[in-house]
Formats: sequence, structure tokens, C-alpha cells
Amino acid sequence: MDERKLRVGIIGTGGIAHSHMRAYAKRSDLEIVALCDVVPGKAKAFAEEFGLEQAACYESHEEMLDKEGLDAVSVCTYNAQHAAPTIYALNRGVHVLCEKPFSVTLEEAAEMMRAEKASGKILSIGFQPRFDRNMQKIKKIVESGELGQVYYIQTGGGRRRGIPCNNQKTSFIEKETAGVGALGDIGCYALDMVLNAIGYPTPLTVSGFVTDYFGKDPETYRYTGNDADFLAEKFSVDDFGGALIRLEGGVVVDFRIAWAMNINTPGDTILLGTKAGLRIPSTDCWNGTVGGEMTLYRHCAGSPIEAKIPLEKDKPEDGTLWDRKIGSFVDAVKLGLPSPIPSEQILKNQAIIDGVVRSAACGKEVEIVMPEI
Ligand SMILES: NC(=O)c1ccc[n+]([C@@H]2O[C@H](COP(=O)([O-])OP(=O)(O)OC[C@H]3O[C@@H](n4cnc5c(N)ncnc54)[C@H](O)[C@@H]3O)[C@@H](O)[C@H]2O)c1
Repeated sequence: MDERKLRVGIIGTGGIAHSHMRAYAKRSDLEIVALCDVVPGKAKAFAEEFGLEQAACYESHEEMLDKEGLDAVSVCTYNAQHAAPTIYALNRGVHVLCEKPFSVTLEEAAEMMRAEKASGKILSIGFQPRFDRNMQKIKKIVESGELGQVYYIQTGGGRRRGIPCNNQKTSFIEKETAGVGALGDIGCYALDMVLNAIGYPTPLTVSGFVTDYFGKDPETYRYTGNDADFLAEKFSVDDFGGALIRLEGGVVVDFRIAWAMNINTPGDTILLGTKAGLRIPSTDCWNGTVGGEMTLYRHCAGSPIEAKIPLEKDKPEDGTLWDRKIGSFVDAVKLGLPSPIPSEQILKNQAIIDGVVRSAACGKEVEIVMPEI
């Protein structure tokens, strides 16, 4: 095993880079040697916040990757800037942990995967709920065969008012930076929850829709302390979306996701199987995790039975979800393991999001053609 400390960089030192940094800081087998943000002074301020006096700061990811001889980077840029730094890093032989969603379009995600394949390096996509014990339990239940053949899934979630724009931050709500809204931001989690459980079958068709009634209305932001007119003016993505998705193997997924809505929840996640059904309660404010005790429904000797599945508690020694997300990436880099959250899976997640956008634009069901990698 390589005992040299890994040289790690972070591209995009905004909100979520802090979570990456806190988890990296717990590891003694790496050093954060370089930081980059296109906003002048932002990488330097981040370095000062975390006491990273030795880290070199850049405004260009190309310059950083050309000069620093890095082993790995976290790409923590807004969605529309996931592809460029990821591809550049992989082309320089640097392993990449890229934040979710994969990207904005399917074609961009495919380009990222082509760079991954050509480089032989790891590309992992940042879905930390994958490391939650209760999320893992869903997959274990499906794999146990208890549900029989899963043929219908309802998934998604919502927030009554949860458009991410505190402190006038617009990177999630402007098309130029975010590319997609609720659909990509939290919809990707809902899709991953169920698609990962059933083994990520290939999506075939999507009939999708998106709306933006709340995002474009100043009233939505009126009592938040933010400049309501400014945010409504900037809003140029979806705040609600959904789709009927057909997957290979005859599975149908009914999906919906909202950053804002006038209801407490658009419904729990359910998996219907030929032997049993599973209900996964939604969280009140959707964050892509299991919202309470799951219930298994089946028939036994002619009688309906309901079994509660107790929530599993994290063990202190496991660390946070972020420790596990960063830790699994670092371990994979060091030990030459496969990508912890493989791009081949998340490409299908992105294909659905891309399909919803295309279908919403033309008002019809669209076919999904998975790109050649
Ligand atoms: N996994 C999670 O729980 C989670 C939570 C929040 C956000 N995210 C994801 O993380 C990403 C970033 O979100 P955020 O809240 O940190 O956004 P943010 O706007 O706070 O930060 C993004 C930063 O990237 C910088 N940037 C953009 N392009 C760049 C480039 N080419 N090179 C260097 N810097 C660049 C911006 O200047 C900004 O500082 C998004 O894709 C979001 O979906 C994930």
C-alpha cells in the first residue's frame, strides 16, 4: 500500500466544499494541497477558515490541475460546472469525486464517463445517502427476494417551501449555473433511492413535466429575509417536476419532486412486488433519506400481514455520512478499489432527469437512448 500522503484538491469552495473539507480533515493519510474557485479570493478565504496555510489557491481549475500533481479532487462546483473540471482532472490522471447530480445533460455525463474510461481513474458521484444504514436496508430487502418481482415504484418527495436560495444565493436557481432545479437537486436522490435498490435497470421511456409557479413568484420568498423580487427575477429552473418512467424488465416508476408545494408530502416511496410491498415514509422536508419506520405488506395463509422494520441507528464508530462518502472515495483511490458510487449507475439517473426535461419541453413521452461510452 502507498504510504505517501495523497495530494488532494477541492474545485469550487462554496457551500458543500465545507462538508467535504470537514471529512477530509479527519484523515491523516492525505493533505489538502490546492483549492480553486473562480470567484477571486474565495479559495483563499476557505484556506484561512480551515487553517490550510500550505494550500495553493487558484481561480482556474486548469491551472491548478496543470501545476499541482494531484492524486484526487473533489468537484464541488455548481451543476453546470461539474463536467468541465471533472473531464480536465481525469484527463490529467486525477481521481474525481464529483458532487451530485452527475451533471445537467446526459451527453455531458457521457463525456465525463468517456474521460473516466480513457484515464483508468475513479469517478465517483457524491450521493452520501447511499451510506445511510436505512437506505442500505431497502436494497437488502429487495435483494432478499422478500418482495418477489418488483413491478411498480412510486418515489419522490417535497418541501412545502424549500427553494435553496438563502443569503441571496442564486447558484441553485439560475439556469446558467444550476441547469436544472428541484429535478436535479433533490430528484436525483429519490431516483437513486429506488433504482439502486433494484439494481439500476436501464430507463426506456419518460413522460415528464416541470413547473415553476413558486420559484418565479416573489410571494414565495416574502417572509424569508431575502430580496423576494430579486430571487423571483433570477429564478429560471423548475421547482416541481415528475414523470412516468418505464424501465427495462417491465418496472414502472411514478416519480415527483418539489422544492415548493401546497401539501405536506406528495407521498411516501412505495415498492410493489409480486410477493410483498414496501412503504418507505417520506421525510417532511425531503432530503433523500428514509423518513421513519418502513412497513412490509404481504399475505400469509390468506391473511394480510404488516411488519414494521425498525429504523437502524448509526454507530458512532461509523462517523458521519460525509466521513463515509469521503472515506470510501479516498480508500478506493489508495487501494485501487472500484468507484464507490459508480458513474455507470448514475448515468441512468441522469438519463431520466435529461428525459424529463426533454419530455416536458415537447409535451410528449420521449425515448431514452443510452449513449455509447
Ligand atoms: N451532497 C449534498 O448533500 C449536497 C448538498 C448541497 C450541494 N450539493 C451539490 O454541490 C454542488 C455545489 O453546491 P454549493 O451549495 O456548494 O454551491 P455554491 O454555489 O455555494 O458553490 C459552488 C462554487 O463553485 C465555484 N465554481 C463554479 N465553477 C467553478 C470552476 N470551474 N472552478 C472553480 N470554482 C468554480 C463557484 O464560484 C462557487 O463558489 C452542486 O452541484 C450541488 O448540487 C450537494
